Amino acid sequence: MRFHLKARLKLSRPIDKAILSKEIDDFNHQLMERSEASIEEWDLKENILDLSIVSGTRRRAHDILLNFSNVLSRKLGKAYKVGIRGIDVYLYEIRFSLDREPLHDIVIPFADVQIEGKEVRMVLRDTSEEFLRKNYVDRMIRLVREKVESQYYEGKGEFWKLIWRSEEKDPVWNRDPTEEMLKRGWLVQGPTKGKWFYRPQAAAILRAMERIAIEEVLKPLGFQEVIESHIVPFDIWLKTGHLEGMPGEIYYVCEPRSRDVKEWERFIDLVKITREVPEDELRRNLSLPRAGICYAQCPVIYWSLKGRTLADEGLPLLLFDRSAISGRYESGGRHGIERVDEFHRIEPVYIGKPEQLIELRERLIERYKHVFNEILDLEWRMAWVTPWYLQQAGKTKIEEGYGEGVIGTIDFEAWLPYRGDRESSKWLEFQNLSILGDKYVKAFNIKAQKGELWSGCSGIGLERWMAVFLAQKGLDPENWPKGFRRYLDKLPEGIKIL
Ligand code: SER
Ligand code: ZN
Repeated sequence: MRFHLKARLKLSRPIDKAILSKEIDDFNHQLMERSEASIEEWDLKENILDLSIVSGTRRRAHDILLNFSNVLSRKLGKAYKVGIRGIDVYLYEIRFSLDREPLHDIVIPFADVQIEGKEVRMVLRDTSEEFLRKNYVDRMIRLVREKVESQYYEGKGEFWKLIWRSEEKDPVWNRDPTEEMLKRGWLVQGPTKGKWFYRPQAAAILRAMERIAIEEVLKPLGFQEVIESHIVPFDIWLKTGHLEGMPGEIYYVCEPRSRDVKEWERFIDLVKITREVPEDELRRNLSLPRAGICYAQCPVIYWSLKGRTLADEGLPLLLFDRSAISGRYESGGRHGIERVDEFHRIEPVYIGKPEQLIELRERLIERYKHVFNEILDLEWRMAWVTPWYLQQAGKTKIEEGYGEGVIGTIDFEAWLPYRGDRESSKWLEFQNLSILGDKYVKAFNIKAQKGELWSGCSGIGLERWMAVFLAQKGLDPENWPKGFRRYLDKLPEGIKIL
């Protein structure tokens, strides 16, 4: 890597060239002892110092510039009462090599990127001091590399490796349960896209799924319930990666600029007169969103523990939330109750020592097997898949060593007979289970008294459980397995509509 930067420093008043020359020599001398870098050229006119810095990989030229400016202002300040009034970086050229040639051109903000073969030339113009201080440059280099790498992974099949599969089960029918529930009036399309209104019969089934998950999986393993907010501020998603990974799927939340009725007077009047939503007036009264509706529940659970040290005696810490409802803007992908914009999920989160979590995963799988085999009596399977945290952070590349059975995500998938035969149709992911290493505990600075701390989570999608169960077992309680009928034997009467 080679960094070349041209900058202009403005001194508070002119200074003698000889003084400056000595300072630069001293600085260069120290610099060269420790790294292959130097202030190459410089020129002083009155109080304007132009200089050019060249450096290699060990230290970035901008870092050297900031350091030089500090040293200089300290020395000149003390001896001559001269300060530095501003730094402009009018050219910053960074050259580095890629592991492989890009497949097509790359564009990133703030810089021109030219690539020849594997050699990158990235040029920034008129860059502010703050920009350099915040180290955007390193992130820009990383972004270029990441964009090139992702060109190689785009369109490649997802990672998938079978772990286990149940025996085959004869489904009682092969119809789409959502369609059937709509016909019977158990379910009504929601008021906005990808949402549902569950009438009593459908609601009873969804709640039965919830009770099963709690009674058969979470309680026996000692999970404790928490209740979180389902409005998630961006700073949480900056830490988890969702903001860069999923910005097109977030349901954004705006606050009013003010709750003062006077501010809203015109809006109110317009509504009264037009009986429509006055969009311009609304826009005027809203703040830009700073939050979104829950996407997954675990980020807020981690946030609630940020900066904390967990007591060893309480590990592994086993929590679950079932109150936050998730919103995901699905656009084209919606279908039935299994692919929706709004869904109900229980999310257990576990934080503990690596060995505790590896053991917990086995116990969770055992309990899940009990539910899917003995209570719901499903035809289903488990597979290692691309970890959700990579997907949700917009990454397509699988990390080295992934799939060896320690850190990663297991998907639980079930056959939906209405989609076609078990061999060729796409099975539905109705649940997942992950161990995520120290990724999130680190991101939220959650610590153990001593030693390593890991975390993980499991998404129990209640609509998905329901979709899978009904697709295999039908809507008639008479055909439901005994285990499930212990939780729901008879459907509620429902609403009589003429
Ligand atoms: N956080 C996990 C996911 O989003 C479990 O819900 O898939
Ligand atoms: Zn999670």
